[in-house]
Amino acid sequence: MNLFPRAEHFITADGSSTLILPGLNEQYHSIHGAIQESNIVYIQNGFNYSEVADINILEIGFGTGLNCLLTYTSFINSKSCKSVNYTAIEPLPIPFDLLEKLNYKNEINSFKINDVFRQIHSSISNEKIQITDHFSFTLISSTVQEFQDSEAKYDVIYFDAFGPDTQPEMWSFAIFEKMYSLLKPNGILVTYCAKGAVKRLLKSVGFKVENLPGPPGKREITRGLKQI
Ligand SMILES: C[S@@+](CC[C@H](N)C(=O)[O-])C[C@H]1O[C@@H](n2cnc3c(N)ncnc32)[C@H](O)[C@@H]1O
Repeated sequence: MNLFPRAEHFITADGSSTLILPGLNEQYHSIHGAIQESNIVYIQNGFNYSEVADINILEIGFGTGLNCLLTYTSFINSKSCKSVNYTAIEPLPIPFDLLEKLNYKNEINSFKINDVFRQIHSSISNEKIQITDHFSFTLISSTVQEFQDSEAKYDVIYFDAFGPDTQPEMWSFAIFEKMYSLLKPNGILVTYCAKGAVKRLLKSVGFKVENLPGPPGKREITRGLKQI
């Protein structure tokens, strides 16, 4: 059962869309700039930071699909990355009328971005689709708690849950232990959250934690490295 209020469309300071949850002081992205935030947290410090040529990405909290769209954009402009296998977890798909309001198709200047947006939002759970010959996408319609994957096969995890005040159960020892076990050696987890308690939890499951400069409106973000 979805216990969150119905989301509403909102234009952030860089002109790009996000969704807000009225009454909860919670939103899908920073109101200082959704595309700007996603580019700095997940693309710059996650996808671009990784040196893996055939990269497996896991996103926790797919939501609007913005991180996937920007990963695709960065991938098609990349000289070093040869393929992307993108898996996204989302238990609460966004209703069609709200998806239609998101302006990423206009705000992201990228080849066939319209088609990519449509494909990722109409995909069927657990069915891998090819967005291009070298970019595949799988949506998993479940919670991260239910998600089962026995292999440590991911190079990068985008951990993009609602904040600890809204959804404390997402920021637990058990979930970070699971994230750690799903990463390959030298894998990385990136998140916008820089709370001390979250960083201590990441350390306690084995991550080497880095504090990195955040996007406007946010002093720091966090990257955890699985160094073994
Ligand atoms: C901060 S928002 C999403 C941001 C998203 N990456 C985007 O760019 O739109 C958090 C997302 O986590 C999803 N979520 C809620 N509970 C979850 C759970 N138990 N497991 C995985 N995702 C969850 C929400 O539905 C929401 O889409």
